[in-house]
Amino acid sequence: MTSREPALPLYHLGGRCRSIPGPVRTVLLGATGSIGTQTVDLALQHPGEIRLEGLTTRSRVADLAVLVKRLEDVGAADRPWISVLDIDAHAAAAADPILSRRLLPPGEDGLLAAAGLEGVDCVVNGLVGAAGLAPTLVAAERGRRLALANKESLVIGGGLVAEAVRRGGAEVIPVDSEHSALAQCLCGRSPEELESLILTASGGPCRDWDAVQLANASRADVLAHPTWEMGPKITVDSATLMNKGLEVIEAHVLFGVAYDAIDVVVHPGSVVHSLAVFRDGAMMAQLGAPDMRVPLLYAITGERHLPLATDRIDLKALGALRFAAPDEERFPCLRLARDAGRAGGRMTIALNAANEEAVAAFLADRVGFLDIPRIIASTLDSTEPADVSDLETALAYDREARRLAKERIPTL
Ligand SMILES: NC(=O)c1ccc[n+]([C@@H]2O[C@H](COP(=O)([O-])OP(=O)(O)OC[C@H]3O[C@@H](n4cnc5c(N)ncnc54)[C@H](OP(=O)(O)O)[C@@H]3O)[C@@H](O)[C@H]2O)c1
Repeated sequence: MTSREPALPLYHLGGRCRSIPGPVRTVLLGATGSIGTQTVDLALQHPGEIRLEGLTTRSRVADLAVLVKRLEDVGAADRPWISVLDIDAHAAAAADPILSRRLLPPGEDGLLAAAGLEGVDCVVNGLVGAAGLAPTLVAAERGRRLALANKESLVIGGGLVAEAVRRGGAEVIPVDSEHSALAQCLCGRSPEELESLILTASGGPCRDWDAVQLANASRADVLAHPTWEMGPKITVDSATLMNKGLEVIEAHVLFGVAYDAIDVVVHPGSVVHSLAVFRDGAMMAQLGAPDMRVPLLYAITGERHLPLATDRIDLKALGALRFAAPDEERFPCLRLARDAGRAGGRMTIALNAANEEAVAAFLADRVGFLDIPRIIASTLDSTEPADVSDLETALAYDREARRLAKERIPTL
């Protein structure tokens, strides 16, 4: 893909999901994370709709064993396949009576085997970071329904994923609440009717902070997200607005909309999850309580609205909805992401890799909050744009950008 052009829509605009009779046989990548445990919760509520055939973790084997036991107790799993990435944690899983029954090899081999398991309808990708790309490609090549939370797959490998989806006949249904909202607004519409997209952003916990406060923002300040409970990496991304920048690129790849036609508004309440604007000026929005189980259930079950015990928005109590322009001076990550998206290919890989390294350093108290955009900008300045034609090239560019970013992080 030449990423400078609007992408062909990866999401089946105007089309319909395949209907899957009986429970959707599902593999859950990243079962012990925020997206993973919320998916397990859905399977516990809907064992007749979702059945887990495989679950993966990086290292949290004790948590995984508890999840599998609970799923088996309600009939939402029966001796599922297990992948544990970390070698020491894998040894612990091999000694566990529940996890050892069907244990895949450790490392990426086991993770990719889980992503490509036979007899599976749907793969939920709840992995964090660039590690999600290779499993996304495997699931796409196998023609699965891909409930995609791992936005980094599309940011660093949008063109590769699009090719794999076409080859394998997979369907990609976004799990990010903004993109799920857009998919719900666009359901049954033809691409020609669409004019632009508006992504909403909560603005994160530091939304109203001045430059001095931002310079002193601690890990604890940044992890206190006002509306969403998520894993640590995406929570930091929300505070820097990089999460919204990654989502702009994700929207470009998913819906085939040009960057100039994707706007971002700050909406602190996180009630309106995003909006589609049609060519006659009509705007369509999706509203709801901030609960990731809503987009997850919608994606796994093939874009159906099934019963779910979650809060309902009381519009009378809410009174008003607030929107504002994002401040790209205080939060430059949004502009960095947009520029990298426009340049495409290698630049989005460098953006993502530098961000992952900078966020990890911030979470380890090695750099300050405002160092995150500085490290990313400096890494991008040292990177030459190039197209990306295969996974090996993408991974080589990813390694090189991480090396550049790490050079910009003080060593302990
Ligand atoms: N959380 C949300 O509400 C939310 C909302 C929208 C989009 N997303 C997206 O969903 C994805 C997951 O986010 P999250 O918040 O659920 O993350 P998280 O809580 O950190 O969970 C990540 C999961 O992936 C596993 N994992 C981490 N690194 C891995 C690696 N290198 N190889 C294999 N497995 C690995 C973790 O295992 P361990 O438990 O052993 O570490 C955990 O199971 C991200 O792309 C995020 O942007 C999340």
